[in-house]
This record gives sequence, C-alpha cells and structure tokens, in this order.
Amino acid sequence: MKILVIGSGGREHALVWKLAQSPRVTRMWCAPGNAGIAGERLAANNRPVECVSLGAEDLAALRAFAGENRPDLTVVGPDNPLALGIVDLFRQDGHRIWGPNRKAAQFEASKVFSQRFMEKYGIPTARAGTFADAAAALDFAASLGGRCAVKADGLALGKGVLICRGMAEAGQAIQEVLVKRAFGGAGAHIVIQELLEGMEISLHALCDGRTAKLFPASQDHKRALDGDAGLNTGGMGAYCPAPFLAGPELAAVGAGILDPWLRGCLAEGIDFRGILYPGVMLTKDGPKVLEFNARFGDPETQVYLTRMENDLAELLTSSADGTLENVELKWSPMPSVCVVMASAGYPGSYAKGKPIRGLDEAARLPNTKVFHAGTANAGDQVVTNGGRVLGVTAWGKDLSAARAAAYAAVETIHFEGAQFRRDIGSKALDRAGG
Ligand code: AMP
Ligand code: GLY
Repeated sequence: MKILVIGSGGREHALVWKLAQSPRVTRMWCAPGNAGIAGERLAANNRPVECVSLGAEDLAALRAFAGENRPDLTVVGPDNPLALGIVDLFRQDGHRIWGPNRKAAQFEASKVFSQRFMEKYGIPTARAGTFADAAAALDFAASLGGRCAVKADGLALGKGVLICRGMAEAGQAIQEVLVKRAFGGAGAHIVIQELLEGMEISLHALCDGRTAKLFPASQDHKRALDGDAGLNTGGMGAYCPAPFLAGPELAAVGAGILDPWLRGCLAEGIDFRGILYPGVMLTKDGPKVLEFNARFGDPETQVYLTRMENDLAELLTSSADGTLENVELKWSPMPSVCVVMASAGYPGSYAKGKPIRGLDEAARLPNTKVFHAGTANAGDQVVTNGGRVLGVTAWGKDLSAARAAAYAAVETIHFEGAQFRRDIGSKALDRAGG
C-alpha cells in the first residue's frame, strides 16, 4: 500500500511514524514533511519515507502528484487543505483520501455553522449568539455581563478567539474582530459564547460517515507558560489518558455529544469521514462543547498514537471507506506525555535556523519518541524551522513515569533559546495527589 501524508508538523510526524509501522505500507511520501519525517523508514521494507516539497495548501500540485504516483491512501493532517476542499478534489479524481470533505470540514471552518448545528441538534454547548451586527453583539455581551468568548467565524490561524471578563474587554473584542476585521473576512460574522469555567479536555472520535469511535480523553496545554500563564499557543504539551473523564462517564459524555451529532449529520447530508475533535469544558453544570475541530489535535496526536495498538493504515482506510462499524480501537495501558520544545519568542516572532543538538542521544532512550514539528535539514545538521520545534514524547507504567521520561529526554536536547513548559500533566498528577 502506498500512502501520501499531507502536512509538516508534529501531528504529521506522529501520523507518518505510526503508519510506517504497518506491515501493509510499502511506500510513503509526505508533502512537505520535516527533518524528522525524512528520517523515518517503513517497517515492511526499510524504505525511507520520501518528503516532497509541495505545500499542504497547494491543491493543484498535490492533485498532480497524486495523479502521477497513485497513492492508495492520502492522509490529510491540517485543517486548511480540508477547508479548501482537497478531499472533494481527490475523490473526483478517484483517489482514496482520508479526512472530511469541504461540507463536513465546516465544523471547524465555521464557528457559526457549528454553533447553530449544536443548538439545532441538542449538543451540550455554551449559551451563545451569532452576529454580523456590532450593536446586537454588544447587547448580547452585556446580557452576559461582558463575561464571554468572542470568536471569529472563520479560520484565523488559531487566534480568532478572544476571552473577555467584562464589558470593556467585550466591547474592544467586538470592535477588533467584527468592525476592524483584525482576522479579515473570518470576522464578518462572530459567535459570542458565555464564558465557561472548569477543566478543559480534548475528545477525539474517528468517524466514517455513520459510526463514531471515541478515543480516551486527553488534555492539551494551550498557554505558553507554566500554570497556564502567557499567550495562547497551538499547544505546548499533552498527555493521555486525562483522568477527569474516563470509564463509563467518558462513554456517557461521548454519547451525549456524538449521538446527536451523528443524527444531525445524517439529517443535513453531511458525510464526515475523519477525526471529529470536540474541545470540551467540564463545568459544574456538566460537560459543554466549546468548539469542534475536524482533524487530529496537535500535540494530542503524539500522545494518542504512541498509545494506539491498531494498525493505523487499516484504521484510516476503514474510516475513508465507511467500514468502521465493527472495528475496535485498542490502546496501550501506558500513559503518554508530550512536551513541546518551542523557539524563543513563540507564539510571537522567532528566529529559525538554530542547530539542534542531542537528538541522537534522545533517540536511544527507552519508551521515548521525539517527534519533529518545525525542523529542517541544513547540510548534516538538523535546525529549527518553526515556532513549535519538537514534541518530546514518552510513555511509562503510570503518568508520573511517563512524564519523568519525557523530561529526561528534553534535558538531552539543546538549541539556542529553547522554551518549554515544566508542568505538562500537572493537573492530573495534582488530582491523584502526586
Ligand atoms: P476555540 O478555538 O473555540 O477552542 O477557543 C480557543 C480556546 O479558548 C479554548 O481552547 C478555550 O481554552 C478558550 N475558550 C473558548 N471558548 C470558551 C468559552 N466559552 N469559555 C471559556 N473559554 C473558552
Ligand atoms: N491542540 C490544539 C489543536 O490542535 O487545535
């Protein structure tokens, strides 16, 4: 089986690494990939994974590449090509491709669409309104005492959500997003949600259009600094399982979201084949969906795939083909922890091209995998090439062993200005009294 993976981050390295373990996979390309992805080999024949320098959003070039090389499966990592309709395009050409089509990708690409869908089909979510008009938006924000989340409708590089704790902030947020269009056309409409408080977790479900298979809960760490201080980032670390929602309670909460979601998809003619990733706040009034993503989380993927025992190539083929119903997901009992090492300055501006040392030493550590995100090869060196640089991932007999192993690996790796959080997994360990 020949596979093309699209994307270049830590999530895509984890996808490539796991797909490469499948005995079925005999050739793999990644567009555009990164230095870590270029270092992977296939378990079936020891053939290297081939990085091809095509951008993840260059649909015309990707289509031409698939036409020439005929992959048996294309796996799409990031949200942008999904929102641009890469799945529809590849299917038109007769290619098997994994990920939601353009209509289904709206769950991530449009917050107005998602909010209305949740309300229509009774999915538990925040009290909310959708607006194109600033005066009406201000009235609604005032009815919440200004305590709200103001969200640009469209994709805004993960920056389109402003958290407000009073009317002054809410007024400013509405002005920025809706009136001044700080996120461009993405802010032509906005969603305003009541501010929810509680523990935030990530859910993932693999879907095939009719069936949704729920993963264990995981937890991301979105803020740049320890103790959830600093700016919002793409995610500075994750762990799985998250003990705040597990066992029968997880199954019940999952069903409370996924059953009405599947009913709604059927009613609206939405054929969702991919990962549905609801961000969920566990509030004192029960779990509430903050947003839907239509792809794997990053860095959640790194902790999920280091625990997954299924053949990922088979699983994603089933998801794309609509044959997931009788598939059982299998997970290692060992918890997994991913610590992201980022460039100095991230999530603001940062330098690139800093040599990374210690990767060989980290690669020799047991129960450890260093996933590359923003890295590139420069001569015989691996250098930084993005904000999030590495996702240092380890697993162990319990969460504290996994975390100790991840931080031991972090200590072996060096690049100028490296920043990382020291408290990944702390909420779970504090809860367990350790
Ligand atoms: P979103 O892209 O909608 O997930 O929002 C980004 C982040 O903003 C989430 O991960 C939450 O941490 C926070 N957030 C979003 N909506 C709310 C809300 N209604 N109440 C509190 N925090 C929120
Ligand atoms: N971990 C956050 C995201 O993937 O959106």
